[in-house]
Amino acid sequence: MAKMWAGRTDGTTNKAADDFNSSIRFDKRMYKQDITGSMAHAAMLAHKGIIEQSESEAIINGLSEILADIDSGRLPIDETAEDIHMFVEAELTKRLGAVGKKLHTARSRNDQVALDTRMYLLEECDEISALLKELTLTLCARAEEYKDAIMPGYTHLQRAQPITFGHHLMAYAVMLCRDLDRIKGVKKRTAVSPIGSCALAGTTYDTDRKFEADRLGFDSVCINSLDGVSDRDFCVELLSAISLIMAHLSRLSEEIILWSSWEFKFIELSDDFTTGSSIMPQKKNPDMAELVRGKTGRVYGDLLAFLTTLKGLPLAYNKDMQEDKEAVFDAVDTVKACLNITNGEISTLTALTENMKKAAQKGFINATDMADYLVGKGLPFRDAYKISGRAVAYCIENGLVLENLPIEKYREFSQIIDNDIYDAVSLENCLGKRTSFGGPTAQSVLMQIESVKKELESI
Ligand code: ARG
Repeated sequence: MAKMWAGRTDGTTNKAADDFNSSIRFDKRMYKQDITGSMAHAAMLAHKGIIEQSESEAIINGLSEILADIDSGRLPIDETAEDIHMFVEAELTKRLGAVGKKLHTARSRNDQVALDTRMYLLEECDEISALLKELTLTLCARAEEYKDAIMPGYTHLQRAQPITFGHHLMAYAVMLCRDLDRIKGVKKRTAVSPIGSCALAGTTYDTDRKFEADRLGFDSVCINSLDGVSDRDFCVELLSAISLIMAHLSRLSEEIILWSSWEFKFIELSDDFTTGSSIMPQKKNPDMAELVRGKTGRVYGDLLAFLTTLKGLPLAYNKDMQEDKEAVFDAVDTVKACLNITNGEISTLTALTENMKKAAQKGFINATDMADYLVGKGLPFRDAYKISGRAVAYCIENGLVLENLPIEKYREFSQIIDNDIYDAVSLENCLGKRTSFGGPTAQSVLMQIESVKKELESI
């Protein structure tokens, strides 16, 4: 495609340089934002008397036809154009002649690309938020279902203390609420309009930046034209918020992988979200969860790649900044796919509650409760801790658990132990007594669900 910037040079460039320079392969996905932004610009130019009302109308009509033609597939995007901005403007001029050439008055591709990217990402933020909400609600629903399902809680991947599967799932719901709040914060700082900053130094035309910003639904206008064209903080912030979402999803995926292994067998994944092996007939592999875990690395890569690109860039626009889009688009596409898949996995898995309970019975996760029992009888915690430790060691050597250690044996460890020790170490009681705020009881899980749902309504 002929270069619109031919003038000082004749616009002919080396073919390899053209391909290298071009961004249309990836920025074509912003065609709607580019056209909508241009419509607002054309309206402003007429509003301020910079072009005629009739010219503005012709431009706006031409643009809306181009939009409809791209949407319907009648107008294929020509990938020999340098970028989407050039393509739309060239197409407009092809259709309208001289009037089309007036659109770029008081504007530059530098403020145009900043505007388009912000508009595009604002929409993506809404999609990510909707998916986050959906997964959070799924977690709440499954947590309610399994609010009584006792399982061992872990530290160091060693059985530690009793919790419920519902409580465990709610930990992820709470994380995702923070993610939602972070996306909200990103949106706030993205919804600042750069249009009218022009190339870098504003314009000599009497423009109305507020008019354009209002028309495009921005909350405010950036107050420094250099910052307007060179700020890509919103990309970094979104990449970073997405990276944290991926961190959460990959931790959940890792647990899904562990839980569905024969070693744990805490859950059965639905066939819809597993694969078989081409050689081992017994296999049911958690590929989706593994891929979510794996893709987390590439999203971190997107964040680091673009942060590194921005480092040390002088103001204002530099072509390096064209690298923002591939990084942020990749991260956005990836997180949306991962949220969707994880939601499918969680909503269809079955918890094998008997296995969870058996595991809870095996790991001495009531040893702290035995110590607490002794404290209740007047012993200092450190002494109580030692006595419980000795009882656990004895049980391990003799194939027993605290629930069935004979009372005579208990008394050898401490005379103050009575028959009520069995109540104290029963798993149900160990769980039921953990009534501190935010704890693992069914009642607490219900409180957490209510609180998360309330928060979702406010975001
Ligand atoms: N394709 C470019 C980008 O994505 C658009 C801005 C080009 N501006 C320029 N002065 N060359 O950053």
